[in-house]
Amino acid sequence: MADRFDVVVIGGGPGGYTAAIRAAQLGFATACIDDWTRAGGKPAPGGTCTNVGCIPSKALLQSSENYEHAGHAFADHGIDVKGLSIDVKRMLARKDKVVGQNNDGILYLFKKNKVAFFHGRGSLAARDGDAWTVKVDGAKPATITATHVVVATGSKPRALPGTPIDNDRVLDNEGALAIPDVPARLGVVGAGVIGLEMGSVWRRLGATVTVLEALPTFLGAVDEAVAKEALKVFTRQGLAIHTGAKITAVEVGKADVKVAWTDATGKTQSSTFDRLIVSIGRVPFTGGLGAEAVGLALDERGFVVVDDACRTNLPNVWAVGDVVRGPMLAHKAEEEAVAVCERIAGQHGHVDFNTVPWVIYTSPEIAWVGETEQQLKAAGTAYKAGTFPFLANGRARALGDTTGFVKVLADAATDRILGVHMIGPMVSELISEGVVAMEFGAASEDLARICHAHPSLSEATKEASLAVLGRAVNI
Ligand code: FAD
Ligand code: NAI
Repeated sequence: MADRFDVVVIGGGPGGYTAAIRAAQLGFATACIDDWTRAGGKPAPGGTCTNVGCIPSKALLQSSENYEHAGHAFADHGIDVKGLSIDVKRMLARKDKVVGQNNDGILYLFKKNKVAFFHGRGSLAARDGDAWTVKVDGAKPATITATHVVVATGSKPRALPGTPIDNDRVLDNEGALAIPDVPARLGVVGAGVIGLEMGSVWRRLGATVTVLEALPTFLGAVDEAVAKEALKVFTRQGLAIHTGAKITAVEVGKADVKVAWTDATGKTQSSTFDRLIVSIGRVPFTGGLGAEAVGLALDERGFVVVDDACRTNLPNVWAVGDVVRGPMLAHKAEEEAVAVCERIAGQHGHVDFNTVPWVIYTSPEIAWVGETEQQLKAAGTAYKAGTFPFLANGRARALGDTTGFVKVLADAATDRILGVHMIGPMVSELISEGVVAMEFGAASEDLARICHAHPSLSEATKEASLAVLGRAVNI
């Protein structure tokens, strides 16, 4: 007799493990199946985010920023560092340790919440009465049954045609997080989130970084003023960013990679790199899930088709996270996971896609929520904008990091906040205020009238809100 569960979650990334924990909290007998494996064969739940995404990238961003500060920023504070050096092996080992702690944390949470964990590849096998049969293919094969199945199988890197990833010379995100030494010449294909974050890491450590972006505009989804400032700062830092670049050939040698490309003017160019990161987006992953066998509908791009409530075309089969439409972000996956479990429990789970924040963890950081100025203009929405630069913020000056600004966009008639856009120090943390304000339908005047601690970076948000009303104080 197969083990019977109320909810079986396939995939243990932010979407999957959050679904499993929330389902268990709601009183369901729950299992989670995940196939990620650590060195030595131990399970490594946490998915892309924990193993080769959010967590390790932020660990390396922090290490490399510390190094850069020690080399450049400390002197201003009167701190002289002599004999500064970088041990990439130790830096990578620290990153791996952080990842391992997160893997273990999830296993602990499963135990705490009585989630049964299966290590292996899960597949939808058949529907039997009111239950789904799910097979686990792994070191300990199993067959389990479930009333509800939540598919959270995530995504994988999009391939550049004709350029296989070997994670030696040509790297995807996994390889980009594990380069064993600082490459003198690093190429990056795609000036998106991964390209900019990983390009920043290796530039700070001493690589000469060239970024080749196909589109003519830089960070097209970001508010134009923020994207313009970002391009200026990143270029000043030493990232060579070429927009409108078309890759025509990639030739992988023993010790280098030659890339032929045409620039925005149509001129043929050739660049030789020690390593090449390919970061041109991600595609949904449903390999080995048994989608075809049970008739789970996928769209033409391979995403599991879901409605607004994350229901698939199959009874009691739900899907969340990167494997379905919408932004490929860990927190979006988590919110969908919670909403699905609450719907299974007969509650009213809800995800507001208008208030999903975005953060790019470069330095300066970039963060936003809601609509950009260009979106508001295209939609013909009348709006007011208020901007405040960190240059005029006391805390930013004390930090020694005055790059960037906060911009608040509000409806011209009602003053309701429609978007908040930031570039500057620690804006990954500051953006939450914008999210909360928008979730509560706040007006810019509400933010402007709230008492903010002084001196704090968050005062820039208050001042930008005051600027919407035409009465910023400190500028
Ligand atoms: P995943 O995290 O991909 O997890 C899916 C899991 O399911 C994996 O463990 C996979 O092995 C497993 N699986 C797949 N099929 C099966 C099967 N049939 N049986 C069993 N297991 C299966 N997002 C952010 O919000 N912030 C960030 O800072 C951020 N940084 C990133 C940095 C990088 C380099 C990358 C690549 C991504 C980053 N992301 C970030 C995106 C984030 O990682 C994803 O949005 C998030 O992981 C999606 O979660 P998920 O649960 O849908 O899928
Ligand atoms: P991306 O979608 O952010 O950027 C890909 C870039 O590559 C785009 O600018 C695109 O125009 C460009 N591109 C596409 N094809 C190209 C080609 N042939 N030649 C040159 N350029 C090309 O994708 P990325 O950076 O791979 O990241 C994938 C996803 O992972 C992100 O969209 C995001 O959802 C998630 N992520 C989130 C992070 C965060 O929240 N901080 C960090 C890293 C990843």
